[in-house]
Amino acid sequence: MADSIDQPDPADRIATVMTRRARTDFLLPEQQASAAEDRPLSIGHGQTNSQPATVAAMLRLLEVRPGDRVLDVGSGSGWTTAILGDLVGSAGEVDGVERVEALVSRSRAALSAQMWEGMPMTWASIHVADPAVLGLPDRAPFGRILVSAEAAEVPVTLIDQLTPDGIMVIPVRGEMLRIIRTGPDRSDHTTTRHGSFRFVPLIEG
Ligand SMILES: C[S@@+](CC[C@H](N)C(=O)[O-])C[C@H]1O[C@@H](n2cnc3c(N)ncnc32)[C@H](O)[C@@H]1O
Repeated sequence: MADSIDQPDPADRIATVMTRRARTDFLLPEQQASAAEDRPLSIGHGQTNSQPATVAAMLRLLEVRPGDRVLDVGSGSGWTTAILGDLVGSAGEVDGVERVEALVSRSRAALSAQMWEGMPMTWASIHVADPAVLGLPDRAPFGRILVSAEAAEVPVTLIDQLTPDGIMVIPVRGEMLRIIRTGPDRSDHTTTRHGSFRFVPLIEG
C-alpha cells in the first residue's frame, strides 16, 4: 500500500527547519508579505516558489538524514536548497541545480546569508543547469534527489544519479512519485504513488 503523504514526521523536524529557513528570505520583495500563505508564489521568469504544504509533503517522503548527499533539481528561489542544507547538516552536502541563470544568482545570494549553528552553510550550493544535461551526473551519486518540476516520464538519467539505496521524490504527469533504488542497476527500483500535485514543467533537453 502507498504511504500516506500526510504522515507526520515523528519529531516534526521538517516543520522546525521550514520555519527556521524563513521563506521570506527567498522571495521577491513584492511577494514577502504573502510568505505565510500556503500557496505557490511567483519568483519571476514564469517560475514559482513552491507551496509550503507541498514542500513539507515531499520532504517527508524524501526521508533526508544528517550527512546525506542531496540533489535539488529545480532549486528556483533556493528555499528548498537551504531547507535541505539544514536537514543534512555540516556532515552532508546539497547541490541545487536551476536552469534560469537569473534565479541562480538571486538564490545564491539568499543562500549565502543563511547561517547554521553560527557558521555559513557552505555545504549547500547552487549550480547553473547545463541545458543538455538533466541533474548533475558529474557530482553523482546522490542518496536523495528532490525534483520540484513536473516530468512527462520518470527520467531514468536521474535514477542513474541515485546511490543503490537512494530515494527520489518527483512529480510525474500530475502525480507525486517516490522512487527507491534497490540495487546497482537503473531497473532496480520500486515506485510508490502519493497523490496529485501541480508543478511547472521539468525542461528536458
Ligand atoms: C517550482 S519551481 C522552484 C521550486 C523551488 N524548490 C522553490 O521552492 O523555489 C521549479 C524550478 O525548476 C526549474 N527547472 C525546470 N526544469 C529544470 C531542469 N531541467 N533543470 C534545472 N531546473 C529546472 C525551473 O526553472 C523552476 O525554477
